[in-house]
Amino acid sequence: MIEVRNLVKHYGDVKAVDDISFTVKNGEILGFLGPNGAGKTTTLKVITGYLSPTAGNVFVDDLNVLDDSMEIRKMIGYLPEMNPLYHDMQVYDFLEFVARVREINKNQFRSRLNEVIALCGLNGVVHKNINELSKGYCQRVGLAQAIIHDPEILILDEPTSGLDPNQIMEIRRLIKNLGKEKTVIISSHILQEMQATADRMIIINRGRIVADGTVDALMSDFKGKTRLTLELKNADEAAVKKLQSLQEGVLLSQLQTKDGILSAVLEYPSEIDPREQIFRQIVKNKWMLLEMSRHKTSLEEVFRNLTIEGGDDAK
Ligand SMILES: Nc1ncnc2c1ncn2[C@@H]1O[C@H](COP(=O)(O)OP(=O)(O)OP(=O)(O)O)[C@@H](O)[C@H]1O
Ligand SMILES: [Mg+2]
Repeated sequence: MIEVRNLVKHYGDVKAVDDISFTVKNGEILGFLGPNGAGKTTTLKVITGYLSPTAGNVFVDDLNVLDDSMEIRKMIGYLPEMNPLYHDMQVYDFLEFVARVREINKNQFRSRLNEVIALCGLNGVVHKNINELSKGYCQRVGLAQAIIHDPEILILDEPTSGLDPNQIMEIRRLIKNLGKEKTVIISSHILQEMQATADRMIIINRGRIVADGTVDALMSDFKGKTRLTLELKNADEAAVKKLQSLQEGVLLSQLQTKDGILSAVLEYPSEIDPREQIFRQIVKNKWMLLEMSRHKTSLEEVFRNLTIEGGDDAK
């Protein structure tokens, strides 16, 4: 189990991570989500032992990053944000080099290398120079170097950033596959990424956790809204007031065009579906209904709402 406890990390005056705590269970795939500059990379660097915390600690089983950073590094496979590879090396030579650094047992050395190469779909490119590879293949090499020592924990910082949609699908599949046996933390600022891969999500904004839970739980915790777009003919502006009062909707906008078409957007709490009542009222008043459409809050909006003050380095 990983436990991040009251973690704080400052860079000079910048509070990159501002007292966050969470745990990750064994075997869980945790999505670590947040806008640019939220503090994702910083948190992951502390967990992996590459940065020391300003305050707080990270525990991995019985170890902690303040006292046992080298031991923890051995338990973790890390794909850093920029995926730093030795670009003038051949794929095989590079992985062999990493395997040596990771002190892979002599008896298992070749078989482990071949296993990882097959697992990451690198068979066709082992004798290519890394700088000849597409970005998607570079990420596969990055994943291969991260798992070569068969770590219990995988930490992947934006593993699909900059990839085309096909490559994204392939890397996601690979991560899901690897995640079957490992504890995984995967960061992203793209929501769909997390919906497709993670069991649970933590949303971080300006160095603080603003949400933690499964996708379903986040959706239901968030007080969602239903938006109703209406277009009416033969109705005057008072019509909208009448419709609005039926279920205490909030009028977001209203517009009457010259040709007498009235359009309005009303908002209701998500548990209310006012469509039937509204339709009856329209029929009763002999207005003509040109459009009635409903739009429910998506997870995208939940994310936007939770991180609305964030983005960039807006500190
Ligand atoms: N080495 C550094 N020195 C000074 N400030 C830094 C450093 N690294 C990060 N920061 C600042 O810390 C904050 C958090 O940065 P971090 O890289 O952790 O965010 P992030 O969530 O990974 O963002 P992104 O989605 O852009 O990768 C930002 O304000 C950033 O400018
Ligand atoms: Mg980052």
